[in-house]
Amino acid sequence: MSPLAHEADLVVFGGTGDLSMRKLLPALFHSDLESRLAPQTRIIAMSRGGLDDADFRGKVDSEVRQSVPDDSGAWQRFLGRLHHVSVDVGGDDTSGWAALTRLLAGHEQRDRVFYLASPPMTFGPFCRDLHGAGLITPQSRVVLEKPLGRDLASSQLINAEVGRYFAEEQIFRIDHYLGKETVQNLLVLRFANAFLEPIWNSLWIDHVQITAAESVGTPGRRGYYDHAGALRDMVQNHLLQLLTLTAMEPPARNDREAIRDEKVKVLQALRPIVGDEVSRFTVRGQYDGYLDEPSSTPPTELSKRVETFTAIRAEVKNWRWSGVPFYLRTGKRMPYRRSEIVIQFKDVPHAIFPGGSPNRLVIRLQPEEGIELHIMAKEPGAGEVTLKPVPLKLSFGQTFTARVPEAYERLLSDVLAGNPTLFMRRDEVEAAWRWIDPILEAWESSSELPEPYPGATTGPAGAHELLGRSGRAWHEEETP
Ligand code: BG6
Repeated sequence: MSPLAHEADLVVFGGTGDLSMRKLLPALFHSDLESRLAPQTRIIAMSRGGLDDADFRGKVDSEVRQSVPDDSGAWQRFLGRLHHVSVDVGGDDTSGWAALTRLLAGHEQRDRVFYLASPPMTFGPFCRDLHGAGLITPQSRVVLEKPLGRDLASSQLINAEVGRYFAEEQIFRIDHYLGKETVQNLLVLRFANAFLEPIWNSLWIDHVQITAAESVGTPGRRGYYDHAGALRDMVQNHLLQLLTLTAMEPPARNDREAIRDEKVKVLQALRPIVGDEVSRFTVRGQYDGYLDEPSSTPPTELSKRVETFTAIRAEVKNWRWSGVPFYLRTGKRMPYRRSEIVIQFKDVPHAIFPGGSPNRLVIRLQPEEGIELHIMAKEPGAGEVTLKPVPLKLSFGQTFTARVPEAYERLLSDVLAGNPTLFMRRDEVEAAWRWIDPILEAWESSSELPEPYPGATTGPAGAHELLGRSGRAWHEEETP
């Protein structure tokens, strides 16, 4: 993990929101506990809440403390770092900006990080106001939470607005999947081991599956989810990021631009899915009961049309991957929570033993982080040779004793250390939208609704047909 050398002021917009309370503050506490926050570093939450520092510290004490290690000395020190400033978003009251200016005054030499954990339409206005208040210093960075827009045009608009006040190297577009330990391990597996590279191509690999399955639904989130859906919420960012890391060419160096250059090339090589191909190569589903879930907003026409599941057959049109389908799948209310990349190898060219099956490499992000290579072995016995697939397993939890940091912990450390390697560059985000847009457009103009599927199942029938047509099937294991 990146060392934190510098004192910083971390200003979180949406600082009392769900992301801040559930992810950011616990991650920062862990960093503090492991001495990765400089002594003078402050965390300043901005919200409409009308709280003062003491109220905010009380709120964090009652809502966050139970989710972090019990160390009261460290906890008190951490609370002392917290401040709160009330801001009137888009309103006429500028006293919040004045209060923030006062708090930051005299600390211009510190690193400043503005973390925008607020809806994307606020990104431009916040940056403009920060600029107006003279708060953007050369040592400032801005962190943008996903979703970055709703389509290519809106994301370009946001990027342009933010780009007016911050240089590209000051902009950190977060995708928390990139902070997951196994995702970084994927790069190590591919580029620090010699044996995989010669077979990492269409000569040896039949297809790739990338799954992010969740057992939870979307209770209480319909207001957001109706406007997002699985394609915007999970595929445009998390799943495409996993695809790029799986498919990219070896970068010349382990450096921010070399890695991101290779990732963007993969996105640019994705074959567009357009017109009637959309109904052949994509599937959308909605779990039964989505419309009845408790939420502060009642269901609308949009709710009926939104997908809580999607499966897509993608192709990377380049020399290495020609003809290898990449199947992407994500859904809510599936039977398990599991995120994994499955590399399905081709069968042996000539089988001398009956009953074999092709090798498979499973790179698991969660719940149990690890890597499994399924190989064929002979079942012990004196009679006929009977084959059985057995896994060679690497469980990170069992192999390494060190605590595995949460994705946000890693990424916040990188932001504070000024390392953008695990953040998305503007051209990456836009290339991803460019591929997603025609699918969105076709879905939005279609009169068909998403296919229903019962909760706790692996999605609608169409998802199985998507692979079944070519004699393939989704990788399903016993639920861990
Ligand atoms: C978020 C999505 O980006 O990722 C959520 O907005 C989803 O809908 C979450 O539940 C999944 O993250 P993880 O780390 O639990 O796989």
